[in-house]
Amino acid sequence: MLNDWQAMYAGDSMGMLEALWNLPDQCARAWELGLATPLPPGRDVRQVVVTGLGGSAIGGDLLRVYGSGRLSVPVVVNRDYVLPQFVGPQTLVFAVSYSGNTEETLSAYREARERGARLVVLTTGGRLKEMALADGVPVITVPAGIAPRAATGYLFIPTLAVLSRMGMLSGVEAGVEELSRHLQSLREKYKPEVPLDENPAKQMAANFHNRIPVIWGASGTTEVVAQRWKGQVNENAKAPAYWNVFPELNHNELVGFQYPPELLQRLYIVILRDPRDHPRVVLRYAVTREIMEKAVAGVTEVTATGRDGLARLYSLIYLGDYASIYLAFLYGVDPGPVKVIDRLKASLAGK
Ligand code: F6R
Repeated sequence: MLNDWQAMYAGDSMGMLEALWNLPDQCARAWELGLATPLPPGRDVRQVVVTGLGGSAIGGDLLRVYGSGRLSVPVVVNRDYVLPQFVGPQTLVFAVSYSGNTEETLSAYREARERGARLVVLTTGGRLKEMALADGVPVITVPAGIAPRAATGYLFIPTLAVLSRMGMLSGVEAGVEELSRHLQSLREKYKPEVPLDENPAKQMAANFHNRIPVIWGASGTTEVVAQRWKGQVNENAKAPAYWNVFPELNHNELVGFQYPPELLQRLYIVILRDPRDHPRVVLRYAVTREIMEKAVAGVTEVTATGRDGLARLYSLIYLGDYASIYLAFLYGVDPGPVKVIDRLKASLAGK
């Protein structure tokens, strides 16, 4: 199946493969969108909050991880109806919803307004855009027509441009340029036309097939990628997956791989590494791998490539995104539609 690329394109009703191919251009366009938007007033920002859900929230985690060594203020990601108590006039809140109609995000937006927070909205439209326009809140309108989880460039990169223009981040423009170039070269390795024996993304999908992926990242580097891989396996392949982070998992999860042994043989572990991982964490990878190898079906390690943090984060995200779509085809499902989420949202909307 994975070598029949025409069948994959034919079975991809929402154009997930095409959107993935276009990610390098999406990132470049997203930067331009962030440069063009009006800035919220005031400069004394003490905290940044990104509020959103699912594919619209992961950009917040990318910002949190990427910004942790670069921003002098904390970034908090809020996936809820309500905002943390600290949010007030010195908080910059990015309210992010691709559809613009996610009820939790609409509620958090209203709360941010009531608390006098500085707001910027990222959306394709919907109720969120209507409210923001009526309130005079800057809106970054991103192109519609792809799945929210395929729009991470649009939903994340503009936040970097805004923070950069507000004087809170520097050197990002070169990072975004490298990111686009790097993804352009990676897509040549991961694209459907490259056969299984030469394609690391297809090989990863084959590792996951009929198994449950367990994705481990490291705090402060690949943690957000582990979370992203898990979500992409869930939404694209309609399959379970789990994630955790080093070093925390060495203090609990590691112990839980003894029983039931026959089920553990259905797990496949991926360790996502970054060249900047803490040296003590690097030692932990080797010891943990040795312990795990006998317990589960397989353990593999992948290391981020690229110079700047943005390229490195996305080098791994790109691999996981492609792998999760290939896994969908191995299961014979269309990667795009997420009917269960749609049904849940429709059922809640009527209540
Ligand atoms: C669907 C997806 C979901 C949505 C989430 C929130 O592709 O990724 O996780 O992102 O249900 O919806 P939006 O993004 O419209 O606010």
